[in-house]
Amino acid sequence: MNCLFVGAGAIAPEYAAGLSGSSLSLAGVVDLDGDRAAALAAAHDCRSFTDLETALSAVDAPLVVNLTSHAAHAPVTRTALGADRHVYSQKPLALDADEARELVALARDHDLALGCAPGTPRAPSQRRAGRLLADGRLGPVGLGYAHAHVGRVTDWHDRPDSFLEIGPLYDGAVYPLALLVAWFGPVERVRVADALDVWPEREARRPSTPSHVEATLAFASGPTVRLTASFYAPHRSREFYGLELHGDDGSLYLKGTGAMDTARDHVRFGRVGREYVSAPSTSPEEPYAYVDAVERLAATVEAGSPSRAGGRRGAHVVAVCNAIEAAAEGEGPVAVDDCGATADPPPAPVVRPGESDRSASAIRLPAVGFGCSRYRDGEYVERADSIATALDAGYRLLDSAELYGNEHRIGELLAAPGAPDRERVFLIGKAWRTNHRREHLLAACAGSREELGIDAFDCYALHWPSALDHRGELNRLAEKPVERQEDLTFPEGEGGEPATADVSLATAWRNLETVHERGWTRTLGICNVSRAQLETVLEAGDVDPALVQVERHPYRSRTDLVEFCHERGMRVVAHSPLSAHGLLDEPVLNAIGTERGLSPAEVVIAWNASRGVVPIPSSTSESHVVSNLAAGSERLTADEIARIDALRDPDFER
Ligand SMILES: NC(=O)c1ccc[n+]([C@@H]2O[C@H](COP(=O)([O-])OP(=O)(O)OC[C@H]3O[C@@H](n4cnc5c(N)ncnc54)[C@H](OP(=O)(O)O)[C@@H]3O)[C@@H](O)[C@H]2O)c1
Repeated sequence: MNCLFVGAGAIAPEYAAGLSGSSLSLAGVVDLDGDRAAALAAAHDCRSFTDLETALSAVDAPLVVNLTSHAAHAPVTRTALGADRHVYSQKPLALDADEARELVALARDHDLALGCAPGTPRAPSQRRAGRLLADGRLGPVGLGYAHAHVGRVTDWHDRPDSFLEIGPLYDGAVYPLALLVAWFGPVERVRVADALDVWPEREARRPSTPSHVEATLAFASGPTVRLTASFYAPHRSREFYGLELHGDDGSLYLKGTGAMDTARDHVRFGRVGREYVSAPSTSPEEPYAYVDAVERLAATVEAGSPSRAGGRRGAHVVAVCNAIEAAAEGEGPVAVDDCGATADPPPAPVVRPGESDRSASAIRLPAVGFGCSRYRDGEYVERADSIATALDAGYRLLDSAELYGNEHRIGELLAAPGAPDRERVFLIGKAWRTNHRREHLLAACAGSREELGIDAFDCYALHWPSALDHRGELNRLAEKPVERQEDLTFPEGEGGEPATADVSLATAWRNLETVHERGWTRTLGICNVSRAQLETVLEAGDVDPALVQVERHPYRSRTDLVEFCHERGMRVVAHSPLSAHGLLDEPVLNAIGTERGLSPAEVVIAWNASRGVVPIPSSTSESHVVSNLAAGSERLTADEIARIDALRDPDFER
């Protein structure tokens, strides 16, 4: 769609930068400063103008992108709507709520689209934070603290006059306000507000309105948010554009309400009683570009339903700013007109974040899971804390087993306030080798379900293809004396040899199917199998494995097995992906990691995820927990994958 840029100042090149990859083309540029307009127009091979009316009649552009200075937004938008053009306006939509409402009404009466910046509620970090909210991780949200530290505009803007005239609300506060309104719906009233004229004495250029404003806002849907908007608090102050929300069950910290990049630590979640943990993206994400919102608005026009939702939200945000000013002038609590703003539909619930599908018939799994084994270099380690960290960071696949002896701790974590809902977590359970007989499998699965506090597993698997003698049930294994644990899990005959049980793999699989028949698991799986053993299972049973878990890392890439599984719609889960001796010192992993800004461990995780294999690394270090999860959103090139596939360790044996 052709568009006309009105305003060729500092922000215009930011919008223009995204045009080439978009469905929009620039048909003309208008600016009172003819040189500025001509320079931008020349770069895009279009005409330039110094007068809006002339440009509107000369250029065939259904969409006007209003990039003028703050006070000019409303008059320019009115003129463009009056000339039957759809409009996307820079923030704010207007400086006065009545004027903003009029613009929305004008657009509605002419069936024109009206959008308004900021579009950042759709930027990657904000969407990630929005998903956490939509997932209910915070519970009901009671309180929030939002900052908009625009900073000393005289220091960082080449033409600060327009900012100094309007104050920090209309340029800065609009970022958190637009986001909060998108999430929580309209502000009902400003409870209290204050405004200060605080500014360095030495500065010759001074704001003509209060330079620092604080207000407490009551949202109709419940939350109360304290907002600070400031020219005085410096541009790069600690809080900058930070937003912190507190709910009954947890808290959320978003580093930048107006940020457009994809930084992994911009969203942090802390459930009640625990520290904040970074919640990185779990799938590949693109930075947000200014032009994205314009393109989306144009798409609504092309689809025949020009959207005015952004305009309505922009108008409500102006009404909030007006009400804050009125409250700060002593008018007491001030009611806010919602200007027709209803919350955008909440982000669609994401049942399986970071899902990576292999085929239509394969189960959907997150790109990376978390290993819950307590074994570490021949020792038992406590895992509850790191599993809680993993859930808070956003892992949605947990690999558990009765052998790990910590199912009841996982159950406690899943039942605690701030935990993800059960249906948002893919839970793998495993029956140990001593439980391959039918009655033992049923008892093992029943015991594990009880300890975890769940009705059913998402996948219940045989931990190992071959059977050992049953010497007793394994529940609460970790609480038993170590010798008893050893006897129960690796029973020995009188001569010290492994005490095997006479249960074939085919029989064990059919026994496992009875667990499925009872509805105690959605799917079945198997671990540590060769391709021949997997074929045995496929022939023996009525239910195919949905998931095959094997040790997989660059020293054991299991390419044949992976391809065999993927061709048949079975997902492959890679256990022990990082711990092969010497692996993380491999120069090729280091080289690829250096090029991409990843550690060798993250490269290994990305190598798995790029093949559609789900690695389940374990870690007791918070930074590793977070970075491993984030690495699942990286996709390696075919060449990088081939370089890693070529790694071999002839001595590798486990
Ligand atoms: N089905 C089976 O038979 C089977 C067998 C074995 C394992 N598993 C599953 O696989 C899971 C993972 O296996 P695993 O625990 O044996 O080994 P792993 O995940 O391959 O490796 C864990 C080791 O890697 C380190 N590590 C983790 N992230 C790192 C990073 N980003 N950079 C550097 N080092 C990092 C950890 O140290 P820090 O704690 O310091 O990060 C730890 O020493 C288990 O928890 C279990 O769920 C299944």
